[in-house]
Amino acid sequence: MIIPVIMAGGSGTRLWPLSRTAFPKQFIALTSNLTMLQETAARLDGLSGDDGISPMVICNEEHRFLVAEQMRQQKLTPSILLEPAGRNTAPAIGLAAIKAVEDAKLASASNELTEFPVLLVLAADHVIEDVEAFQQCVKSLLPEVQAGKFGTLGIVPTEPATGYGYIKATTSSGRLGRVSEFVEKPDAETAARYVAEGYLWNSGMFLIRADRYLEELKNFRLDIYDACVKSMASTQLDLDFVRIDKEAFEACPDESVDYAVMEPLAAKGEVVVAPLDAGWSDVGSWSALWEIADKDAQGNVMAGQDEKNFILQGSENCYVYGSAGNDGSGRLIATLGVENLVIVDTPDALLVANKDKVQDIKKIVSQIKASG
Ligand code: GDD
Ligand code: MG
Repeated sequence: MIIPVIMAGGSGTRLWPLSRTAFPKQFIALTSNLTMLQETAARLDGLSGDDGISPMVICNEEHRFLVAEQMRQQKLTPSILLEPAGRNTAPAIGLAAIKAVEDAKLASASNELTEFPVLLVLAADHVIEDVEAFQQCVKSLLPEVQAGKFGTLGIVPTEPATGYGYIKATTSSGRLGRVSEFVEKPDAETAARYVAEGYLWNSGMFLIRADRYLEELKNFRLDIYDACVKSMASTQLDLDFVRIDKEAFEACPDESVDYAVMEPLAAKGEVVVAPLDAGWSDVGSWSALWEIADKDAQGNVMAGQDEKNFILQGSENCYVYGSAGNDGSGRLIATLGVENLVIVDTPDALLVANKDKVQDIKKIVSQIKASG
């Protein structure tokens, strides 16, 4: 039994001004007419044969209606776990694992675990062109994972990106490898060395037995484990939403699964990786979106509104986004003789940036937050 767990609690600040606290990127249609969350769910079609899989979605309580509505549009009825505050991915997976184990016990006659639920932990903001290859990778990990190992998908890198974590594995030849090291977001020089040495990108996608995750979380981070157990002890059902206990969860330390569990576990040889070469991107920045989008003959991307609303004269390699508005109309955007710019026009904010500098958009967001 594979239970997809879609983590949808991130803030996506590097896609400001389109991605906002009230409306982060995973809930926006950026690369197709489905939102990134919907794309993530659609990618699971057929993974477990005919029986269809209903995912678990874990998100901030502020976004509960967005998630419910977007899933309903796809005829899915997931369990939706609501976090009263973001505490990063290690606790989020902890909550999902506790829920999966409880559900599995309830479903068995003896109230014991007769079958181990396997979680397919996914980020809600990824693009994968070759869905077939993605599903093959997941299936290839399953036997090792059922036997208790932690599985992860490692992306074959296409450049020395500094926005991703890296994985060192004993093989990257298309078969499963054993991970010896996880390293989170290196500087440019280290990234270049890693790519040359055959490291993979950490995709942030994992296949793990729920009970094993809880065991290792308890082992490495008893504080996070305890906070998750307490938070789930007094959940409240509100419509179809599972509300996590606010006080208990707010006391939980903030930590990513990469640091809390994957890094120390890899050092013990307990993590296996399936290399994935399938046109993957986490769409973490405007330049990443430019990379994957369809371009005109001058390398420009026109997005968000009808192409007739753009006049790009003598301009090259730009990403230009205009907000269509509720009536789909949008407004005219014209550029003249510019290169390598990102221009994002929304009703209340306009961004004009050098495409090579868009990793720093977080600085703008911090400045806005600081000035209240
Ligand atoms: N429910 C929940 N709660 N989800 C969260 C939270 C949280 O507190 N924080 C983040 N998420 C979700 C995000 O929505 C996203 O789908 C996923 O977890 C990963 O979080 P990001 O914040 O986007 O992480 P990152 O991109 O900086 O880094 C991670 O992903 C990269 C690949 O996309 C790391 O795992 C990197 O090593 C990896 O390369
Ligand atoms: Mg991300």
